[in-house]
Amino acid sequence: MTSAGAIPRDATIAVIGAGAMGCGIAQIAAQAGHPVRLFDTRLGIAEKARAAIALTLNGLAAKGKLERAAADAAVSRIAAVHALGDCVSARLVIEAIVEDLAEKRSLLRELEKIVSPTTILASNTSSLSITALAAGRQFPNRIVGMHFFNPVPLMQLVEIVSGLATDDATAETAAATAASWGKQPVHATSTPGFIVNRCARPFYGEALRLLAERAADAATLDALLREAGGFRMGAFELMDLIGNDVNFAVTRTVWQACYYDPRYAPSVLQEERVAAGHFGRKSGRGFFDYSDGAARPTPATAPACPAPARIAARGDAGIAAPLLSRLAQAGIELAHDPSREGFPDGAIDVGDAVLALSDGRTATARAAATGARNLVLFDLALDYSACTRLALARADSCATSAFDAAAGALQAAGIAVSPLDDVAGLVVLRTVVALANEAADAVTHGIASARDVDLAMQKGVNYPRGPLRWADEIGVARVRNALVNLEAHYGEDRYRLSPLIARRHAVGATLSENGARVDRHE
Ligand code: NAI
Repeated sequence: MTSAGAIPRDATIAVIGAGAMGCGIAQIAAQAGHPVRLFDTRLGIAEKARAAIALTLNGLAAKGKLERAAADAAVSRIAAVHALGDCVSARLVIEAIVEDLAEKRSLLRELEKIVSPTTILASNTSSLSITALAAGRQFPNRIVGMHFFNPVPLMQLVEIVSGLATDDATAETAAATAASWGKQPVHATSTPGFIVNRCARPFYGEALRLLAERAADAATLDALLREAGGFRMGAFELMDLIGNDVNFAVTRTVWQACYYDPRYAPSVLQEERVAAGHFGRKSGRGFFDYSDGAARPTPATAPACPAPARIAARGDAGIAAPLLSRLAQAGIELAHDPSREGFPDGAIDVGDAVLALSDGRTATARAAATGARNLVLFDLALDYSACTRLALARADSCATSAFDAAAGALQAAGIAVSPLDDVAGLVVLRTVVALANEAADAVTHGIASARDVDLAMQKGVNYPRGPLRWADEIGVARVRNALVNLEAHYGEDRYRLSPLIARRHAVGATLSENGARVDRHE
């Protein structure tokens, strides 16, 4: 691998397009010490952007978050310029103009005539192919994606995207420069959605499918993703924040660009929201109502049920062991029943109910296959020792009193119970295994290294774990099994197993360690 250093701090950076993203990029480049040239075709916009940056930095200085001198110096380094030719001295040009292939190609053609042949030309595109942007250029090797996230000064992640012609030194310099600006760069090849916009699709896709199957309402699914899954936001509130129009368009673009791979198929439910103008927060209504005085949606929660006096654990509770400890700490007598070992994945006898962790099958199918009476399944949690809510689903044959006993046990330990319809894989388990599967495919296809996929999902969309490390924590065998069960349940290609999971499972290896394949970034 080539190792190239960051662009020196005294070298000029040009930012083309002074909208939301260009403004943020200019700010952080100037704060890092670079002279910055900021250009926009709309008259006065670059000056306005400079003034907005000054306001932001002065605000930070007033709050004591930034030295006054540093704020003044950063602003003084930014020059709003009126012609592309004023960017002649730039060592790095970052374009953040309108998301249009023809416009961006035409800009790159113009820039090529102005700057030195060694100047790096970076695009902040979120969806266009870097290969296509660079095609036909004289020096396509120095064209690279630098995909910042919004808001730029706050979001740490930058995806450094290499097209077919991008040379390693260009990508390394772009990455080192982003790092010198305090960002966390990750390397990706030019593919639809790069890392984050592709690997995050299942987060929305599984939630939308669960809603479509009426497993629970949107507020309940969101609460489970937050309180059991440890995600900062539920999928529906996040789609409402991003905008259903934008989120739907990204899904559709990735789906189309991947030749209608069913993995990424958009949801009719979301399309209907877009058709109705229910874009989310910005339109006052999306999956939730944001109008003045609208009630905050509350998740469905089982009413209080009596706590059982004793429970019996059979088999090895595995990753759910902290849950057993919590039940015991709540004063429930905990027995271990060795005569009843062997129930796959461990189980807890609670009165007449058998409580077990989901394995991707419905409770009804699993009860039929195992002969378990009154089977109640619980969902995956990021941390069973701390989660405040868990989903329970009962087999069609399960008596209400048995379900109530299972709910009562969890409630005694301070865990709110959200009853779900009997869907395969519940909420958190199927979301996490689908994310891990997508992440594993990104590694399989050489889009990025395992380390960079995990980093990107933590820094770009705030997931509590990188999906591959998360899969390792809950066990590759469990992830594989859940995906195989989901694929059998739905009979769909959507849950097809990533070759990387199949391979690592076969040899008992983990997913988050790089090693099975060597790519340019490992
Ligand atoms: P914006 O619409 O806020 O700003 C674009 C600016 O570019 C406008 O001020 C426009 O006048 C200017 N412009 C258009 N054509 C130009 C040209 N030929 N030369 C110079 N200036 C030109 O757009 P935004 O949101 O800042 O996005 C810019 C780029 O960043 C797009 O490629 C977008 O896909 C990408 N991006 C956007 C993110 C977001 O959340 N808004 C996140 C990550 C990437």
